[in-house]
Amino acid sequence: MSRIAVVPGSFDPVTLGHLDVISRSARLFDEIHVLVVHNPDKSAMLPIAQRVSLLERSIADERLPGNIIVAAWSVGLLVDYCTDVGANALVKGIRSQVDVAYETPMAIVNRDLAGVETVFMLPNPANAHVSSSLVRQVAALGGDVSPYVPRAVYDYLQEI
Ligand code: PNS
Repeated sequence: MSRIAVVPGSFDPVTLGHLDVISRSARLFDEIHVLVVHNPDKSAMLPIAQRVSLLERSIADERLPGNIIVAAWSVGLLVDYCTDVGANALVKGIRSQVDVAYETPMAIVNRDLAGVETVFMLPNPANAHVSSSLVRQVAALGGDVSPYVPRAVYDYLQEI
């Protein structure tokens, strides 16, 4: 039986921290679905389709393993997508105790709802300060985001 996991997030935009978690997840599971999910608590910078496209290009550019699928999900529960694709695990990158506090209730609810387990993954500490919200803020104010994002995202942000 294949071990399938979903790596969900806003990915607005994808950062080097995200790519690190995606890459590690792809080595742990047979198949990974990187799922772009609309987060109503955040005001978006990029349309969902653009986030998917930047993820696909970044994953290809970094030559990450071939068992990674990128998709988007905007209707219903995250665990509904998991059930649809036969995934019994979610992977969430954990940078700090703040992330643990934010993710723990969702992990318990997702397990209650559909038996989907959540794996908390510790990323490379070099990326512990990197977040999409930080990238959005620095980019909006004209700063250099090249240390935090893949080349495809950097190039795209230069164009818009
Ligand atoms: O990158 P983000 O914004 O921190 O990602 C948060 C996200 C999209 C993963 C989170 O908001 C989420 O899990 N949404 C799914 C909505 C859902 O199914 N909620 C009910 C159970 S917790």
